[in-house]
Amino acid sequence: MSDRPLILAGLTLFVGLVTTPIWHGALDRKAALTAPPIQLPAQEKQCVAPASYMRSSHMQLLEHWRDEAARDGRRQFVAFNGKIYDKNPTRTCVTQCHTDRKEFCERCHDYAGVSDPDCWNCHNDSQRTSRSAP
Ligand code: HEC
Ligand code: HEC
Repeated sequence: MSDRPLILAGLTLFVGLVTTPIWHGALDRKAALTAPPIQLPAQEKQCVAPASYMRSSHMQLLEHWRDEAARDGRRQFVAFNGKIYDKNPTRTCVTQCHTDRKEFCERCHDYAGVSDPDCWNCHNDSQRTSRSAP
């Protein structure tokens, strides 16, 4: 009787175990790609900055907008493509494009475990009324 089948089985198990970090990493990346579907604006194809930048840095961008507009009175944003926008979360972000904040902002924040920012306590998100901030 030959030991071959046994040796082959042992080798297969060994290779499987040794390469665990590689295929496990690939599976993880696949899981990371299955983020929740977010509702993109129907009428616009381009945000105020490229999507990859918005994905990683929209929080800094919004906070810069707030500081520059409210503290320095610089209220216009010249985008990378030359378009000019108001640095205003209600008019520019929510009214014009992301009209369903729940299906866009909140869905991703929930998924990422980020508590929804407090901006809408004051700024009108067009789903509620009687807000005072612009
Ligand atoms: C594709 C996912 C995604 C979408 C869509 C998204 N966000 Fe975020 N947002 C995040 C993540 C992740 C963080 C946390 C980043 C961190 O903590 O470094 C965050 C953080 C923020 C913060 C900072 C919160 C804090 O407490 O400091 C603000 C403000 C914010 N988002 C606003 C918005 C608004 C407004 C929208 C919708 C117009 C939106 N986000 C849509 C993923 C998203
Ligand atoms: C406590 C209430 C309050 C909260 C919370 C708040 N804001 Fe504001 N925000 C205001 C008020 C009031 C103004 C108007 C100030 C001015 O124009 O002098 C303003 C102005 C702004 C402006 C400038 C708008 C314009 O047209 O000039 C931006 C941008 C802004 N806020 C972003 C944010 C973001 C982003 C958040 C959340 C991270 C946030 N704000 C949270 C009250 C608030």
